[in-house]
Amino acid sequence: MEFTLPKDSRLNTKSFTFGVATASFQIEGSTNADGRCESIWDRFCATPGKVLNGDDGSVACEHYTRLEEDLDLIKSLGVDAYRFSIAWPRIEPKPGQWNEAGFDFYERLVDGLIARGIKPYATLYHWDLPQYLEDKGGWINRETAYLFSRYAEKLVERLGDKVVSYATFNEPFCSAYLGYRWGIHAPGLKDDRLGFQAAHHLMLAHGLAIPLMRKHAPKAQLGIVLNINPAFPASDSEADKQATQLSNDDSNHTFLGPILAGKYPTSVFEKYPHWAPTQLQGDLDIINAPLDFLGINYYTGVTIKADAQGEREEVNQQVPKTDIGWDIIPEALTKALVDYKNTYPSLPPIYITENGAADNTECINGEVNDTMRTDYYQQHLMAVHNAIEQGVDVQGYFAWSLMDNFEWAFGYSQRFGIVHVDYSTQKRTVKLSGLAWKKFLANR
Ligand code: NOJ
Repeated sequence: MEFTLPKDSRLNTKSFTFGVATASFQIEGSTNADGRCESIWDRFCATPGKVLNGDDGSVACEHYTRLEEDLDLIKSLGVDAYRFSIAWPRIEPKPGQWNEAGFDFYERLVDGLIARGIKPYATLYHWDLPQYLEDKGGWINRETAYLFSRYAEKLVERLGDKVVSYATFNEPFCSAYLGYRWGIHAPGLKDDRLGFQAAHHLMLAHGLAIPLMRKHAPKAQLGIVLNINPAFPASDSEADKQATQLSNDDSNHTFLGPILAGKYPTSVFEKYPHWAPTQLQGDLDIINAPLDFLGINYYTGVTIKADAQGEREEVNQQVPKTDIGWDIIPEALTKALVDYKNTYPSLPPIYITENGAADNTECINGEVNDTMRTDYYQQHLMAVHNAIEQGVDVQGYFAWSLMDNFEWAFGYSQRFGIVHVDYSTQKRTVKLSGLAWKKFLANR
């Protein structure tokens, strides 16, 4: 199978950046090595009933000890860039104590990429908060935002402009809502107001960190990665449209609004005033720090109708789904990007920092025929192309993920890699989708 795009597409040119993405906790393993401290995800995995099959991150893909082999694998795919995340617990295992072995690992990773001609794209926080910070309230505690900015400064001071692009956070929606509002992710709290409070502090942490990072890496591109879950109304009725607006405001504009325009959307806190987070004067100006790029992670969207009480209700759509059960709706990505361009005049250039599908096709005789995933990529590359045609400045695209890995509350049951990992031997096998990527990248 092959990816095909219109001949004159920006995606066919070398000026468009293609990469693969991963995250520290999902691949590294070695959670007790070289002074790393416990993270909220180690604690969550150890809590019975939280992660499917009791899976944890202690071994994962053994990336921490197989770094060179994995760098060669990335190189073999022909990508321009590699997006990875840095584990705060390896860098600052005790408050204010900086761990040389932690810096060293990420320095070797960055240098190894550069030596292979691959651009490093780093994310400073992909959900693995040191547990000692959670013990003091985690993202509910305003202090965590200041401590994050101190960590960010230390790290960027060390890696500097060697890293082409830094994102402060990956998907603050997930940290805040899945972690503190709905109890699905670490630390597992369930309270709407806490969810919004965590969101506010995560965004504050982002805004505090950006100017400090600029100081130490003036040439690097600085931004944040947001996941979007675009909602569309089930009908033209006013009630459905209003419920859809509420859904978009809650999931998407609660983050896009403060970060890109220095304001929260109004509909959520009008309907639920007690959800509004405590904030200090000036917070929104800090959060609204100028950015070089916005990272967008896209997997799926939702169709919404209003129920009898006017509350939002998700409608099950008759569309193909990936193995994790998410609807495949590539056109929702195009529509959302065009919508954001029209809503936010200050929208910086966009990178699709994650896109991909769970396709659990097995490895048989050294081959993985993941045709559904390959198709998913083809459709979403077209969706990005269409957004560019409609005037959205998209500069790059990262496939999630380089390899199968720890899929959070789903443990190892869901496979997102374009490279298969046999967890009993740690053998990596490039899947059909990975081969399609290789071919496409080589032919640009
Ligand atoms: C987004 C997250 O950033 C990543 O960690 C996760 O594995 C993928 N979505 C798939 O759910």
